[in-house]
Amino acid sequence: MRVLSLIHLKGGVAKTLSSVNMAYILAAVHKKKVLLMDNDKQGNASKILNRHSYDRPGVAEILTGRDMDMKETIQHTDYEGLDIVTANMNLISASLAVMLDQKRPQQTRFKKAFGQVGDAYDFCIIDNAPDINISTINALAASDDVLVPVTVDDFAIDGLAELKEQIDYTREDLNPSLRFCGCFITQYDRQNEADRQGMEYLKALGEYPLLETYIRRTGKMKPSTFAREPILLYSSRCGASRDYKALVEEYLKMCPSWTQQGGEKGGETK
Ligand SMILES: Nc1ncnc2c1ncn2[C@@H]1O[C@H](COP(=O)(O)OP(=O)(O)OP(=O)(O)O)[C@@H](O)[C@H]1O
Ligand SMILES: [Mg+2]
Repeated sequence: MRVLSLIHLKGGVAKTLSSVNMAYILAAVHKKKVLLMDNDKQGNASKILNRHSYDRPGVAEILTGRDMDMKETIQHTDYEGLDIVTANMNLISASLAVMLDQKRPQQTRFKKAFGQVGDAYDFCIIDNAPDINISTINALAASDDVLVPVTVDDFAIDGLAELKEQIDYTREDLNPSLRFCGCFITQYDRQNEADRQGMEYLKALGEYPLLETYIRRTGKMKPSTFAREPILLYSSRCGASRDYKALVEEYLKMCPSWTQQGGEKGGETK
């Protein structure tokens, strides 16, 4: 199982919609077995996939549960090949409990849990909260790859330096193979001069690798969340649907050994 974290300290940059849509496309278009992990107390990814509840264990229980079987936290979605670990407000008290529990390692609980299910999936995508806290550090410690969605506005690079630093610390202390794949622009309006200039600025800055694919702003995105559907189902022909398919292809090219059915030969799992 290859684990990809979508993360940024900023809110509203499309971490959740990118996680949900990339996960859906990997499952529906590329026929991969995909696990989506909602790692945000807002539970938006769980809501979009119609699985948000307080009745079933989810990410909070993975953090706190002693001798927890991760399989018990996984639910099927309505889509073939796509399963989910849900999140809700219980993540607040779970994160606090982890911080107070000095008896067991605090930062590698996701990593340990993934050992139980890694063989069943090709990819796991983690939708993170706009924060660095114990659950996002657990995500980074358990990830192979990191992608950072950004919007082009005056605050485009706010928080990126701090995020990069956290990724570097995690690589040094907990997860030497963690790879920062780069940033990709979301909610981009090609007709808007400020957006065009903002993209050029980010490219010229050269400080953070920028993926070739960007995601266009579309009026269909918000209604797709009300309809609780991946954008590809809600409006297969809109620009963002095409862009998310291109984004998944660009990402798959970055991990060639996972593009064949069944993942990497030899089956290394984390
Ligand atoms: N391509 C797009 N076109 C138009 N609107 C978009 C697009 N992508 C995202 N949005 C809008 O941006 C808002 C934020 O998206 P999303 O919830 O995915 O961001 P987030 O980074 O996960 O936010 P948070 O930090 O609160 O978790 C959504 O309400 C959505 O309607
Ligand atoms: Mg979100």
